[in-house]
Amino acid sequence: MSLIEKNKFRADFPALTQRIRGKSLVYLDSAATAIKPWPVIEKIGHFYTYETANVHRGAHYLADKATVAFEASRERVRSFLNASSTDEIIFTAGTTASINLVAQSWGRTFLKAQDEIVISEMEHHANIVPWQMVCEQTGSKLKIVPIMDNGELDMEKLEKTLSSRTKILALTHCSNTLGSFVDIKAAAKMARRCGALILVDGAQAVAATPVDVQDLDVDFYTFSGHKIFGPYGIGVLYGRKDLLQQIPPYQGGGSMISTVTFENTTYNELPYKFEAGTPNIEGVIALGAALEYVTDKVGFAQIQEIEHQLLTEATTKLQAIPGVKIFGQAKMKAPILSFVVGSQHPSDVAQILDQEGIAVRAGHHCCMPLMKRLGVPGTVRASFSLFNNQADIDTLVRGVIKAQEMLQ
Ligand code: ALA
Repeated sequence: MSLIEKNKFRADFPALTQRIRGKSLVYLDSAATAIKPWPVIEKIGHFYTYETANVHRGAHYLADKATVAFEASRERVRSFLNASSTDEIIFTAGTTASINLVAQSWGRTFLKAQDEIVISEMEHHANIVPWQMVCEQTGSKLKIVPIMDNGELDMEKLEKTLSSRTKILALTHCSNTLGSFVDIKAAAKMARRCGALILVDGAQAVAATPVDVQDLDVDFYTFSGHKIFGPYGIGVLYGRKDLLQQIPPYQGGGSMISTVTFENTTYNELPYKFEAGTPNIEGVIALGAALEYVTDKVGFAQIQEIEHQLLTEATTKLQAIPGVKIFGQAKMKAPILSFVVGSQHPSDVAQILDQEGIAVRAGHHCCMPLMKRLGVPGTVRASFSLFNNQADIDTLVRGVIKAQEMLQ
């Protein structure tokens, strides 16, 4: 029996037991956010119920316990990314906050007029707008690398776009809309040849593929907890230690200082220099539980096998429906299917799917420039995860056919 006929991980996700509008929930919106498994839910509940305390400043049992758990999560993230030191793991509010930190702290320090920042045509707004802001502040220029018709990044054009003027290359590891993976290792080599840094938006990639920042040879890697079964408002910035040491803090406040007088402040050591204020403690601790679930309970070998089966099956069945057009056929692809149904508005299709208990996203997916490239105002996006099964695909296919009939 294939892994998706009877998916053994469904029982880990209590959200799947509910009925939506009288129908069993078919959750196909994992690219927007992952539903949560029991170990994450229980970890947060336990922290709030019995273990609430602040970190790094306590003189009592619970404060020590919270600090130990918080720092154990940092070590888990380090190992998850294979960073060389926990000094390189900064907790932020998410991918967006991580990219803004680099754009502002690194960018405003090192970028000058006429320097170039290179991004791709399929970036999420979170990897476009922070760079536009720093361009306005410094006079730097934003350069865009196109994608090919199959949704893959055009690596030849990338090579041609990079030059001695490029100071940073900022790329998604996996498109949230097309599912295309980018060959980050090859891109990092190109960036190095020009003396540029490379930042990777890993928001969509981390739940689908193992990441080794040393093997990829990247300078910054960012991701969000909520897309990898963890809580909201917590994310990670991995940064190479020597770079983080050169960059000024992003925000000032408690915890990020070493000494403060009214005349002068000195900053704390890494990673605390970038973690001003009381952090999202339960978020950090439960993110650790989420990563443990992914790596120890399920494991990337099974995730990749399940997601490959889901992608193959869903692609075959959806594209067999006359009038359905799927965007993106990259060779390396996460189980994300962006499609249109004839000339029907994606929101109308999504609304009919919702009546069937099917959760998808419709619209521009925070990628307006990509929509322009695809020549559509938006798409319907069905995104699969390790808990989806064959029946979910069949329900989606029936839902799309029903939407097509109703909207004719
Ligand atoms: N970035 C999230 C998405 O792709 C919200 O839907």
